[in-house]
Amino acid sequence: MAKISPSILSSDFSNLSDQINKIEMGGADLVHIDVMDGIFVPNITFGPPVIKAIRKNTSLPFDVHLMIDSPERFIEDFVEAGADIITVHEEASIHLHRTIQKIKSLGVRAGVALNPSTPLNAIEYILEDVDMVLIMTVNPGFGGQAFIPGMEKKIKKLRKIIDDRGLDIKIQVDGGVKLDNAKEIIDYGVDILVAGSAIFNGEDIIENTKAFKAF
Ligand code: DX5
Ligand code: ZN
Repeated sequence: MAKISPSILSSDFSNLSDQINKIEMGGADLVHIDVMDGIFVPNITFGPPVIKAIRKNTSLPFDVHLMIDSPERFIEDFVEAGADIITVHEEASIHLHRTIQKIKSLGVRAGVALNPSTPLNAIEYILEDVDMVLIMTVNPGFGGQAFIPGMEKKIKKLRKIIDDRGLDIKIQVDGGVKLDNAKEIIDYGVDILVAGSAIFNGEDIIENTKAFKAF
């Protein structure tokens, strides 16, 4: 069964704790926290102080997706704020190997994210070092965009590489994941689904989360 990591990017920011309690009641496995800096992506969200504030209200693991330039500058801050998984973009960190080691040395799981246009071979020599690969299935920056169909091939190819090498690495997919395509995406070989608008924009956040857990 795939895990669900609801993205609070689409939640009601004036009520963050309540929104997180609802996904917890619905059976969410993780909380996906999209950090954007206005440089790596054309949008700005929140940083460590907000993460620290919501950390007090839930025991769910924090899955922190850093869409920021040179993320190595802020790893300690996100660990102190309560991150359990820190994912950095391959495109954003020049010395990616060093950045991944830094995350792991602080006792946190490390993920690497790829924009839709970035080929899988960009992470060929770092794969053994990461706990998770995040395949972006939209161009990062905003919720509510449509899944890019060409990403099917990329996800399946990554699944095969991981299986062929016998690695224990989770595949996470982020962007355009809805109830009506979730099953198909899981069948590509995905371990963790991220869903933002499909969970928070509907009528009932608890029921929406439960519905994703049914696959
Ligand atoms: C986009 C973010 C996503 C976003 C997904 O840059 O990384 O996590 O919240 O939103 P939906 O599920 O609405 O595509
Ligand atoms: Zn994300």
